[in-house]
Amino acid sequence: MLLVAGVVWAMAGEFSSSLPRAELWRMVREGVAGYTAVKGQEAGELIQASGETWRQLRNGPLFTGGAIVLGGTLALLALFYLLRGQVKLEKPRTGIKILRWNLGERMLHWFVAVLFIILTVTGLTLLYGKAVLLPWLGKAQFAYWAQLAKWLHNISGPLFIAGLVPMILIWFKDNLWRPGIDWAWFKALGGLVGRAHPPAERMNAGEKGWFWLLMTVGALLSITGLLLDLPLFGLERESMQMIHLIHGVSAFLVIAGALGHIYIGTIGTEGALEGMIHGEVDLSWARQHHDLWLEALEKEGRFSLAKSDTRIERPESFFKPEK
Ligand code: HEM
Repeated sequence: MLLVAGVVWAMAGEFSSSLPRAELWRMVREGVAGYTAVKGQEAGELIQASGETWRQLRNGPLFTGGAIVLGGTLALLALFYLLRGQVKLEKPRTGIKILRWNLGERMLHWFVAVLFIILTVTGLTLLYGKAVLLPWLGKAQFAYWAQLAKWLHNISGPLFIAGLVPMILIWFKDNLWRPGIDWAWFKALGGLVGRAHPPAERMNAGEKGWFWLLMTVGALLSITGLLLDLPLFGLERESMQMIHLIHGVSAFLVIAGALGHIYIGTIGTEGALEGMIHGEVDLSWARQHHDLWLEALEKEGRFSLAKSDTRIERPESFFKPEK
């Protein structure tokens, strides 16, 4: 209080002649620093004026835009499911299992996925909690949850990055863009519309798109999150506010992508989730969705279709590429 009074007094003193209050507030808005004996970054600034701009952007376009993006994505996915339904296996299962994701890949995937879900729920609480949860939970309960959410969000972020970086590294090669194959996949809309099955490698073009969204916007989300988490670089509040808005916008883009990814990985495609849970997919699934991957395995001598066809009676997994 003393500090504030001192700064106001110092500023007001300079304009005691005409309209002192108007002059004072004009200077405050412009961020002119007053005198204070307190040492510290921006200590002499009475009111951080750009904070008001940030507040309006956060509570306006970010708040509404984010709700539109997420609501719109969910509505589109629901509509798509109603129109298209699940992409079913076209051929009966052979009982022959092919290892698609090894244990390390699966553990990394679920580590990142669980943290992402925690970050999404807690992040959305930080932005929408006051409007959506407070009236519903009441002040005391909401205060507990909001504090917990903020804490969880702050510690989950670095853990998420610790999982995302190796995930990007191990799947980088599989996600390199192959124009011929990948554009053709997109043109055929990945077989999601119509019945055509465009050829695909270990990762199809849709998966590659998700991967590159994580590589770019996900990286931006992570870096801005770290800067907000650890304000070690002496950034002024104005920069932090800008970083916060970039963090929010990139979060909505990645969450929308994740909703699409989760849809395709669960109810959207028969047999995809079992691959990410048990590691193995049925030969019919691999042929239908990732035929070029299967061919590549065969060329490398890591899988023989002829051999597998003779072993249909042995349903247990015999193909373990990591061994
Ligand atoms: C409940 C949440 C999730 C489910 C059910 C899920 C499911 C799946 C499934 C089934 C696959 C294998 C697809 C295939 O075999 O072609 C997969 C792959 C993958 N997932 Fe997830 N996932 C989830 C969340 C996430 C999150 C949050 C991330 C990253 C932030 C992520 C990143 C990936 C990546 C990079 C791949 C490799 C293929 C690709 O590039 O899409 N997943 N996921």
